[in-house]
Amino acid sequence: MLLDGKRLLITGVLDPRSIAFFTAQIAQEQGAQLVLTGFGRGMRLTERAAKRLAEPPDVLELDVQQPEHIAAAVEDVQQRWGALDGLVHAIGFAPASTLGGGFLDAPWEDVATALHVSTYSYTALGAAFADLLAVDGGSVVGLDFDAQVAWPGYDWMGVAKAGLEAANRYLARDLGPRGIRSNLVSAGPLHTMAARSIDGFGDFDAVWQERAPLGWDLRDPAPVARTVCALLSDWLPATTGEIVHVDGGVHAIGAGVPAEHQPGGSD
Ligand SMILES: NC(=O)c1ccc[n+]([C@@H]2O[C@H](COP(=O)([O-])OP(=O)(O)OC[C@H]3O[C@@H](n4cnc5c(N)ncnc54)[C@H](O)[C@@H]3O)[C@@H](O)[C@H]2O)c1
Repeated sequence: MLLDGKRLLITGVLDPRSIAFFTAQIAQEQGAQLVLTGFGRGMRLTERAAKRLAEPPDVLELDVQQPEHIAAAVEDVQQRWGALDGLVHAIGFAPASTLGGGFLDAPWEDVATALHVSTYSYTALGAAFADLLAVDGGSVVGLDFDAQVAWPGYDWMGVAKAGLEAANRYLARDLGPRGIRSNLVSAGPLHTMAARSIDGFGDFDAVWQERAPLGWDLRDPAPVARTVCALLSDWLPATTGEIVHVDGGVHAIGAGVPAEHQPGGSD
């Protein structure tokens, strides 16, 4: 199995639609042992989602804005396994004022929250778990949304993702010598709780239907989750600082795919 015996910490399971939930499910099928994290009022949802997995994993409380939560999670994994093979960062949050057209007016305090939770926490978690990830060599994987261009409504979250892309490269630089890889999966749009909070998210559907040469299903996070699992495995051992696009091919295509060339179209 792809992840036989791997010890993984997976953040970001909120409910069974979460990208991290699908990742946890596939990782278990592939032989991994898991610990999940949740936070705040979402903890109960995370615990409920955990029970839907074949082997319900423990859930730790981890709000990335609380340094003591991060320290406690490191301590837990140290006691539990004494090492960590993989860390999944599937965390994103931006206050409403910073999304959906608020780019020019968003106050710094709200922008700071978006950057703290969605960007800085990637480095903070990678650094905090580095000693445990270095024991047997490890893989850190984060979730990205293509930040090369400006999108409708994505606003400061787009800036946060651009920062995440840079942070991924710096983490790869600084943790690589210790045998730790850092990579992002740049996902196409998916109907999760986080996505629902973005005004105008529905517009992405039309873009992906028009431009994805492979087609794209907004209700199926499995392709993204499978790619996360591949990056957690031993099968990409010399890949770090990379962004793997799992978006049906949209990032590579400038204009719409002609109707006759679309999936299911006549040729
Ligand atoms: N859904 C999409 O279209 C899409 C596309 C590309 C990338 N992503 C990214 O995938 C990741 C997972 O999001 P999702 O779409 O599965 O949605 P989701 O709502 O299921 O997950 C977001 C997670 O972030 C967690 N979170 C928010 N603030 C936190 C904090 N302070 N501390 C710890 N955890 C916190 C939430 O608890 C939740 O589990 C995010 O980074 C998101 O930006 C999503």
